Amino acid sequence: MTTDDGSPPRIVVRLDGVRKEYGEARALDGMSVEIRAGDAVAVMGPSGCGKSTLLNLVAGLDRPTSGTVEVNGQDLGELNETGLALFRRQHIGMIFQFFNLIDDLPALDNVALAAQLTGTPARQARLRALELLDELGVADRRNSYPATLSGGERQRVSVARALMNRPALLLADEPTGALDSRSGEQVMDLLIDLNQIGQTLLIVTHDPHLATRCASRLVEMADGRAVRTSALEPTV
Ligand SMILES: Nc1ncnc2c1ncn2[C@@H]1O[C@H](COP(=O)(O)OP(=O)(O)O)[C@@H](O)[C@H]1O
Ligand SMILES: [Mg+2]
Repeated sequence: MTTDDGSPPRIVVRLDGVRKEYGEARALDGMSVEIRAGDAVAVMGPSGCGKSTLLNLVAGLDRPTSGTVEVNGQDLGELNETGLALFRRQHIGMIFQFFNLIDDLPALDNVALAAQLTGTPARQARLRALELLDELGVADRRNSYPATLSGGERQRVSVARALMNRPALLLADEPTGALDSRSGEQVMDLLIDLNQIGQTLLIVTHDPHLATRCASRLVEMADGRAVRTSALEPTV
């Protein structure tokens, strides 16, 4: 993919020689990867190879032991905790296997909160939240609490929440892992649609079907590093 002037799209994520140790355990051991604007990258690999650690570092939820993590041109190592939290809210959207919605807030408030935390006035945040719930086909569930929503509906609400601040990067950790196959397919369709309108995606998954349906590039990991990168053919 190239931009209008023929130059390659800007780099949204760059990891260079990243190591992450938890005591004796080495979760990442020289992980390097580059993701450009508009890419849809799937990361696969055996359990324990460092996939979730990778996402947590890119999200700025954790810091590497050594090596650099850059997101949207910002070296995350230069930010203090407050700066990191703000950066995450402004530039990164995340969706999780188990949704991570707030149980005692209705769907609309779960979504609106993401923008209110970055300083958007409540009224404006609620308008945009409603717009997104509508686009994702769950506006009729706006006043429902997460416990009363189906898995598929919960994941749509989480996607709306993730998109609230128009993130440069959408991270997904096993986004269909807790869904029945029909809802899983619908979430995959949603991710594909988002990527087609330019959303950069980084998806961690065990599921080869999710990877081949949603991603244009596959990064295979083993023992804390990338061992192979390949282009994926779009499936119909
Ligand atoms: N907070 C932690 N404390 C100690 N060890 C951890 C922690 N997080 C991950 N690990 C270890 O790091 C390795 C990679 O974990 P993880 O990134 O969760 O792998 P994956 O998501 O690919 O299954 C595993 O051996 C795991 O046990
Ligand atoms: Mg994991």
